[in-house]
Amino acid sequence: MSSYQQLPVAFERGAGVWLTDQNGQQYLDALSGLGVCGLGHAHPEIEEAIADQAGKLLHTSNLYHIPLQEALAERLTSLAGMDKVFFANSGAEANEAAIKIARLFGHQQGIDHPVVITATGSFHGRTMATLSATGNSKVQQGFEPLVEKFVHVPYNDTEVLSRLTDANVVAVMLEPIQGEGGVVIPDEGYLKAVRDICDQNNWLLILDEIQTGMCRTGEWFAFQHEKISPDVMTLAKALGNGIPIGACLAKGIAADLIQPGSHGSTFGGNPLASRAALAVIDVLSKQKLHMKAAKLGAEMLARFKSELSEIDGVISVRGKGLMLAIELDRECAQLVNMALQEHLLINVTSENVIRLLPPLIIDDDIAQQIIAKVVRIVKVFLKEE
Ligand SMILES: Cc1ncc(COP(=O)(O)O)c(C=O)c1O
Repeated sequence: MSSYQQLPVAFERGAGVWLTDQNGQQYLDALSGLGVCGLGHAHPEIEEAIADQAGKLLHTSNLYHIPLQEALAERLTSLAGMDKVFFANSGAEANEAAIKIARLFGHQQGIDHPVVITATGSFHGRTMATLSATGNSKVQQGFEPLVEKFVHVPYNDTEVLSRLTDANVVAVMLEPIQGEGGVVIPDEGYLKAVRDICDQNNWLLILDEIQTGMCRTGEWFAFQHEKISPDVMTLAKALGNGIPIGACLAKGIAADLIQPGSHGSTFGGNPLASRAALAVIDVLSKQKLHMKAAKLGAEMLARFKSELSEIDGVISVRGKGLMLAIELDRECAQLVNMALQEHLLINVTSENVIRLLPPLIIDDDIAQQIIAKVVRIVKVFLKEE
């Protein structure tokens, strides 16, 4: 189906930060397949783990114990300070699990019509519940009637949230940094303030770390910048470095709501996906890639700021770790094609925000190449407009 407007290129192979197209041309990947290939392409340890597992066992179903899934749950919960995990196959599915947990939580409190608060500008996925949770009418258009009982409040604003009086509210669901919404980084203290409001009202705090998790922003999970802890957290994207896997982590009361029969997934957490994610975590932790993302990201941000901040047409240059953005004062989707011609893969989101999510394995030299190309393209674009 025509779900995607695709660019005129197809890649045949990858190695590290480089992709090679069908004509043998090389491209520098500053997007990592939309934040998925954090370890770059064809990473030897991931390749080895997947190949080895494929030769042993791909799938058994969740009717049986899956030791690799249990090992992965152990690693994830200890990294995130959570108690339990439900495994799915995508971000949207991980969020579905989170929303179902919120509803179970509500019913347990005697709330028959539980309401989940989400933010305007958010993106939580394309399934019916997650697009209803999403705070962007474009994502919802044509799919009405939406799933009920999502209320949207402004992002990075605790005023409206703290004044909510609806006794049916059971949870607040947020991205720590809004990705699709334009790399919107909230003020320091925002998540902490939301955590406090949730505690005061007995609401669950659900954090969607699907784009921000797995070391992208300079910590394993973006909430760790604020030294808070959510009740529920979702992961996907970089967790499998390209092998589809999603995870919904929960702690405390939220971790015990899903019981046999209340939720499930045929593929979720199968041996192959679990083994791949374990290998991803091994490499991320061995190479301390959260620290590298923090350092290199800060350097890239400083350089982008010094090159672009003062230029007419640039509204803001921002980022956290290796999640970087340049916001322009006009729509700039054509920059993606301009970059492609320069053999660089970037993305434009929210119409006027250039988004960079390079693999976390980049070195200084690659970072400089990305900066030089992006700066050149942005300057040409703004001059020619
Ligand atoms: C924050 C966030 N949540 C959820 C999703 C949906 O993930 P998936 O496309 O794997 O369903 C995305 C995807 O971009 C995302 O960025």
